Amino acid sequence: MKIAKFSTATMMTLILATGAIADAGAAPTALGEGVYTAEQAANGQPTFETNCSTCHNADFYKTVFQTWRGQPLQYLFEQIMSAMPADKPGALLDSEYEDVMAYVLQITGFPEGDTRLQYANGMMREIPVEPAS
Ligand code: HEC
Repeated sequence: MKIAKFSTATMMTLILATGAIADAGAAPTALGEGVYTAEQAANGQPTFETNCSTCHNADFYKTVFQTWRGQPLQYLFEQIMSAMPADKPGALLDSEYEDVMAYVLQITGFPEGDTRLQYANGMMREIPVEPAS
């Protein structure tokens, strides 16, 4: 009996440990898991200040995240790419929109991580928009 219990516990430990290892390499699927890098946000700041901050501040984006909650981040990103900056829609490179998005996530309080935020790989489809804290 004692031996059986011990081996069940050991197996559970192994299963949990394996799960943790698998998670570490997976792409993030929640804003709280760190969906952009610190470097991206740093690159995004000057682009944001030149192209976005005359019309929107951080509080504006908090309202936007509230409105878009539950929608894939990809939809919001595509909306921004096609409509912003309002005075010259689509004027930035995809990578500049990615960096601006990273900076917006940073100033609204979402954590940075090891994964670069990218449009082309489709990762944003798996990340729902959440209200900022
Ligand atoms: C010249 C002013 C101006 C600039 C510059 C500008 N915006 Fe906007 N933005 C607007 C206006 C006006 C709206 C509201 C449009 C509407 O009613 O959906 C808006 C809406 C938005 C929305 C909400 C979209 C939605 O459908 O909910 C986001 C997000 C956004 N802008 C991001 C950006 C970003 C990022 C930049 C810089 C790349 C930027 N904006 C630059 C004027 C601007």
